[in-house]
Amino acid sequence: MADSEPAAPASPASPLSSPGELQLDTIAIRAGRTSTPEALAPVLWATTTFVSESVEAAHRAATSVADTRFYSRYGNPTVAAFEDAVAELEGAEAARAYASGMGAVAGVVLGLCSSGDHIVSQRQLYAGTQLLLQSVCPRFGIEVTFVDATEPGAFAAAVRPGRTTLLLAETPANPKLDLVDLDELGAIKGPVKVVDSTFATPMIQRPLAHGADLVVHSATKGLGGHNDASLGVVAGSRELIDWLWSFAVLQGANASPFDAMNGLRGIRTLGVRIRQQSASAQRLAALVRYLNGEAAFTGRVYRLYYDLDQLTYGVIPRWWRCAIPASTPIPSATWPSGRWRCREA
Ligand SMILES: Cc1ncc(COP(=O)(O)O)c(C=O)c1O
Repeated sequence: MADSEPAAPASPASPLSSPGELQLDTIAIRAGRTSTPEALAPVLWATTTFVSESVEAAHRAATSVADTRFYSRYGNPTVAAFEDAVAELEGAEAARAYASGMGAVAGVVLGLCSSGDHIVSQRQLYAGTQLLLQSVCPRFGIEVTFVDATEPGAFAAAVRPGRTTLLLAETPANPKLDLVDLDELGAIKGPVKVVDSTFATPMIQRPLAHGADLVVHSATKGLGGHNDASLGVVAGSRELIDWLWSFAVLQGANASPFDAMNGLRGIRTLGVRIRQQSASAQRLAALVRYLNGEAAFTGRVYRLYYDLDQLTYGVIPRWWRCAIPASTPIPSATWPSGRWRCREA
């Protein structure tokens, strides 16, 4: 190591392992086989509608949440396999897949927020998400405050008790990889805390373990990894995902079985790809420093961006702080009515 190199930070627990559980690499290879356990590879259920044994069975399927053998906008076995794999990787109870990352983001925002609600998000955002928050939300009477998410305490300071329904963070953020302190975000009580973790994938960070309620991905990117799937996904508690499903079936941005199959195939190699990408990025960053005359070329980099790279990957389980009031009907035979309301901290 050159004399000018800063000391390497103490290495965090490997993000590729989750202590006491299956290695994430193992989960990535095995998850999502429940509905067709005899098939090693994902099975493509390219059907919109399923055969029902009786009128009663059809009625039952039509009036249950996320049935996977009724009508593919409601649920589909191939899509469910992809959802199960993401839920398991994220340490979530359930997941819902969408036709794209924007489908997922819009599904969360419009599925949870109503006129009069307030959202806190960040200035460092993927442009599509920013446009949705900036130009679409106000049309529906949803107010949005954008904070500098790299400022400690910025999200908490912008929360309006009783009005803020959603905190929407993105980390590492597109395009400059700005980081948000997940533990700090996870500790905020009241609103539903959502993290777009597209750039990290669960191999690098698992926001639910830091107190987030929902994690969102554009699986079009790292999760899918082969440029052959336009796909989004949201993972979290069963209760929140069921709620989002009730809006998603009306939104209609459901994932196609073909893309879900490709997405699941991509997940099988997620760990290998992330390790290679990280190694390549590390060498490139070292090269840039060398070309800038900042350091001898050692092939290693100790700081990629900002102090927050010291964040630990420790597992800090926290229960989500919001609840659907008992009086609100969870969709079954009914479509969503009423509003998502947060319990006051
Ligand atoms: C962080 C992030 N979230 C969401 C999206 C939207 O994803 P999609 O293009 O799959 O709709 C993108 C797309 O680039 C993104 O980078």
